[in-house]
Amino acid sequence: MHAVGIVAAAGSGLRLGADVPKALVGLGGRPLVCWAVDALHVGGVDEVVVAVPAPQRAAFTDVLPAGVHVVVGGDTRTASVRAALAAAREHADGTDRTAVLVHDAARPLTPPAVVARVLEALAAGADAVVPVLPVVDTTVVVDDDGRVTADVPRAPLRRVQTPQGFDRATLVAAYGRVSGTAAAYTDDASVVRAAGVAVHTVAGDERAAKITVAHDLALAELQLSGEIS
Ligand code: C5P
Repeated sequence: MHAVGIVAAAGSGLRLGADVPKALVGLGGRPLVCWAVDALHVGGVDEVVVAVPAPQRAAFTDVLPAGVHVVVGGDTRTASVRAALAAAREHADGTDRTAVLVHDAARPLTPPAVVARVLEALAAGADAVVPVLPVVDTTVVVDDDGRVTADVPRAPLRRVQTPQGFDRATLVAAYGRVSGTAAAYTDDASVVRAAGVAVHTVAGDERAAKITVAHDLALAELQLSGEIS
């Protein structure tokens, strides 16, 4: 099975408050996007396509390793993945199928073991697989005034991480069904599930946490320096 990694790195990172796109923000002296690309390679992905914001295309090309394919992303994550998927071609070496793993640049410290688990599930025959973690907090629904209107039983709930793995043809067909930039989809498994495909799960990892606000970046720095595990 040939595996292509797609890294969605075209977000602005407004919530992080940085003056560069989030994927170019440094962690341990290296841009987040470089960590995400490394995790995919070490975990077993053969080639990587990165979707970047148009104005910073050259800046991304400068920091990414040679051989990584850089494409311009879109206004939503869905549009960015769609652009990268167009560049992630079917592998023509006679192997049975091509896997595509879609990963957030914003999850720099994802252990390669998570990537390997996703690849294993695809090799075992799954068409779609996501890494997940349990929900530990009490979870509720609130109304527009912030009042709690319902409790949600948390036992069946999961938090979904990346990389999310797909049979390439399945992912291409599912993206073919969603229109335009489709801002309603926050990940790729929901695009595939909307097309009626079963999505399987493997164990995620707290270290694959998404960096959204400055506190997340501070935690990642501590994780990197070994002060927290
Ligand atoms: O905004 P959020 O943190 O959910 O974004 C998740 C990932 O999707 C980030 O790595 C971000 O760079 C990427 N993204 C993208 N194109 C967009 C918006 C977000 O590639 N238009």
